[in-house]
Amino acid sequence: MDYCKITKPICSTLLFCALSTHLSFGQNKTQSLKSAYQEDFLIGTALGTEHILERNEKANVLIKREFNAITPENIMKSQLIHPTPDRYNFDLADKYVEYGQKNEMYVVGHTLVWHSQLPAFVAKIKNADSVRIFMTEHINTVAGRYAGKINSWDVVNEALNEDGTLRKSVFLNKLGEGYIKEAFELAAKADPNASLYYNDYNIEQPAKRKGAIELIKKLQASGTKIDGVGIQGHWSIKTLNLKDIEDSIIEFSKLGIKVAFTELDLTVLPNPWDLRGADVNQRFAESPEMNPYKDALPDSVQTALANRYTDIFKLFLKHRDKISRVTFWGVDDSHSWLNGFPIRNRTNYPLLFDRALEPKKAYQAVLNLKTAK
Ligand code: G3I
Repeated sequence: MDYCKITKPICSTLLFCALSTHLSFGQNKTQSLKSAYQEDFLIGTALGTEHILERNEKANVLIKREFNAITPENIMKSQLIHPTPDRYNFDLADKYVEYGQKNEMYVVGHTLVWHSQLPAFVAKIKNADSVRIFMTEHINTVAGRYAGKINSWDVVNEALNEDGTLRKSVFLNKLGEGYIKEAFELAAKADPNASLYYNDYNIEQPAKRKGAIELIKKLQASGTKIDGVGIQGHWSIKTLNLKDIEDSIIEFSKLGIKVAFTELDLTVLPNPWDLRGADVNQRFAESPEMNPYKDALPDSVQTALANRYTDIFKLFLKHRDKISRVTFWGVDDSHSWLNGFPIRNRTNYPLLFDRALEPKKAYQAVLNLKTAK
């Protein structure tokens, strides 16, 4: 009996469903970053408020299709989430966590202890006890609220100077170097299931890397839980140093922790001061020659960017057993902090998606490493 004659509409529906399931599965497998790299490491992006609130449907579709990990670019920083001693703004952070859960993404918390973007009241604190109370209440309240919902926390962010010594900050000045251990212990207690990371820029470079290794070893020697290190990855197509990156992956993983690349982007713009990294306090005067690709990115630079991303991802794949996650610092070029740093109002092109939210040559290059026959 031809059952389809009797139940033709049902049969067509089933056939359509089967085909579309097969097609979308096939498409996901070959045409998104998260699917292509699913056996290797998580692929993440940093979300701004507009993404968390799903304001732009094209961006929303792209984020869900390409990424399986998210980091809040700004909204969990203490200045925004904890503006006055007794007031917390949880609204956006709640929505961020809900967004990650709803879309089955790996949810990163960024960041609990950072010298920058502190609430104004912290600058007025005069004594160690009050700094300790602020840090303790902040970690207990924020990490505690999302316990079981955040997969990993950047517990301490950017605690090191370029020479590997500890950066002067309100935390170091008032509490001494033990503040790092205190912060990790508080985070472990507030959210026992979250992975805990130390996160910093330029720690692939030898002197700063040495400082990071010492910091991590001290935590481990005192029995403090630390699960990973986040190498931010704010690099340049001109000065990228693959050897430093590879040495760092190897040396950090020898400590028995995971390595994540937490804020990856590649500036394509000139940088006469050879400024590497991300000290947000450094800013330079605007000048037209420092903004050469105001209207469009020439093909040659587009190709150079793609080649550099290829080099980086080849290296990441070589060490896939040591790497937990690679997160881009932004969704598309329009949304990158590098349009405003170290010089305001420039047009930069550091990510894999362009301003129209279309994939760039660099996107195809990263995908091809996994999908090209
Ligand atoms: O929210 C205010 C807004 O009210 C005000 O009108 C506007 C005027 O400038 O500023 C807005 O705040 C800005 C904030 O981003 C949110 O957009 C700050 O000025 C701006 O300095 C801040 O920059 C962020 C920077 O961290 C400092 O927190 C960047 O977006 C963010 O990409 C960057 O991210 C850091 C990581 O957290 C840590 N590693 C380095 C990385 C790059 O600096």
